[in-house]
Amino acid sequence: MEFVKTTPNYQPYTALIELNRPKELNALNLQLMQELKEALKTLDQDESVRVIVLKGNEKAFAAGADIKQMANKSAIDMLMIDQFSTWDQIKKTRKPLIAAVSGFALGGGCELAMTCDMIVASETAKFGQPEIKIGVMPGAGGTQRLTKAIGKARTMEMVLTGKFIEASEALAYGLINKVVPVELYLSEAMKLAAEIAQMSPVAAMLAKESINRSFETHLDEGLHFERKNFYLTFASEDQKEGMQAFVEKRSPNYQGK
Ligand code: CAA
Repeated sequence: MEFVKTTPNYQPYTALIELNRPKELNALNLQLMQELKEALKTLDQDESVRVIVLKGNEKAFAAGADIKQMANKSAIDMLMIDQFSTWDQIKKTRKPLIAAVSGFALGGGCELAMTCDMIVASETAKFGQPEIKIGVMPGAGGTQRLTKAIGKARTMEMVLTGKFIEASEALAYGLINKVVPVELYLSEAMKLAAEIAQMSPVAAMLAKESINRSFETHLDEGLHFERKNFYLTFASEDQKEGMQAFVEKRSPNYQGK
């Protein structure tokens, strides 16, 4: 892989994926997205991995889709290439996925971070959907996920002016989970990953699936889906272990079964 580096056991039960196209500020070209898709698919099936962290570098998480690669394309080229279809794999990832963001998270970069389940950011992080400045609009979830995360008024302003928001604003708006000094953003993301990795991976997967379902459905159906997943956790050995450990006043040891 040229643009994506994967470390399956960066720390116990946690894999790190690093976007590695630094000269172009991790602009998301077709090859990078294809590699990311494959890396996520592999790690999602790897039993030794329970949580995945995705990072860029200090200057840029990702500065968006690759403008140079798209500049001369026609609408039909875009339709036939259908570059955003590779993004579906990110959404399909069943294990918890944490974005560790420093520097620019713009356009597709902001959309990529939002497709992850949680975002830990450095104080230098900047989020934006600046597509309007280059005569287009967000195409990989910016008008949908951002609206759900921070509301219509703020999304309208960001998408229609292209302005960036600082990490502190993103935190206040509820877009991200945490802001820390730049030298700590990866270790903080890893700390969060380690905490989640101690839980039952079966329960984590079913809980993630249920939370995401709330974006797709109305309340009654979502509650029904949640209830079924809750009952399903009782098919796991981890449920027996978790409840037994509580009764015995000891720490549980989950096997993901
Ligand atoms: N695509 C392709 N190349 C990009 C890029 C992008 N999205 N963003 C940065 N680069 C390249 C620059 O062209 C430059 O390359 P050269 O050295 O070969 O000229 C290199 O990365 C460094 O960038 P800058 O010199 O511009 O760095 P800067 O610090 O002065 O500015 C920036 C940083 C404000 C992020 C600026 O690069 C910028 O505005 N980038 C574009 C952001 C953008 O519009 N993103 C949305 C893309 S469209 C999209 O994402 C659609 C979608 O919904 C998926």
